[in-house]
Amino acid sequence: MFYVLPNPQAIAEYVSDLLIAQIQKKNNAVLGLATGSTMEPVYEKLSKQVTHKNIDVSGLTTFNLDEYIGLGAEHPQSYRYFMQQHLFNRLAFARHRTFLPDGLCNDLTEQCEQYSNQIRQSGYIDLQLLGIGNNGHIGFNEPGTPFNSRTHVVTLSEQTRLDNSRFFDSMNEVPDKAITLGLQDIMESRQIILIATGVKKAEIMAELYESPVNEQLPASVIKSHPNAMILLDEQAAMYLPDNMRKAVGA
Ligand code: F6R
Repeated sequence: MFYVLPNPQAIAEYVSDLLIAQIQKKNNAVLGLATGSTMEPVYEKLSKQVTHKNIDVSGLTTFNLDEYIGLGAEHPQSYRYFMQQHLFNRLAFARHRTFLPDGLCNDLTEQCEQYSNQIRQSGYIDLQLLGIGNNGHIGFNEPGTPFNSRTHVVTLSEQTRLDNSRFFDSMNEVPDKAITLGLQDIMESRQIILIATGVKKAEIMAELYESPVNEQLPASVIKSHPNAMILLDEQAAMYLPDNMRKAVGA
């Protein structure tokens, strides 16, 4: 389940190849997407490869994991904006099938219910990409989130706000609420790939490696998924026991 590659570039190449194989197998696949620094090289590589190989992405449906409440599509720190910049504007996605929660929606309860329903109606997610927070969150499912959760509104932990403040001018501007796909929605995906890169993720990856499946470490839930892969670079894997590291393909 834990696989180590040398660096973020090697991970980007590997994941881009997996995504392309998925699209070639099923041109109307449903992809679950994440934002964040970890995903930037992945989307960069994917955009180049899809263009180079002339792959048709117009039949795909995508669902992003999360969005800040209070930030609209035009706000440079909104996740819609991130996706437009890093992926959607670069390729011929069908814009009306690129779903993210709407951070400016008035009826959050209804939106949450609809978002999980839309995924179900689309036939569930074929391949879900995940990053991981320093506190073990996936999406914005913070420690203590029930494993049976559906799309919901979260109050972000101080740690998460602090981690994400690097993208904002000041800590005050970091939203304190977000909408996130729930852990049960994520677990219903047919395949899950969690990526962790860089030395800052080394401690949480060691904890994830050692920890039993439990709600205090949200990412641990994917250890009970039948088709999940955890991809680390050498830095994020630095505290994993040598004999437990597997090379991809081994
Ligand atoms: C983003 C998301 C988050 C991030 C996580 C890691 O859509 O769901 O769980 O994946 O916070 O963020 P980075 O990659 O910036 O370290």
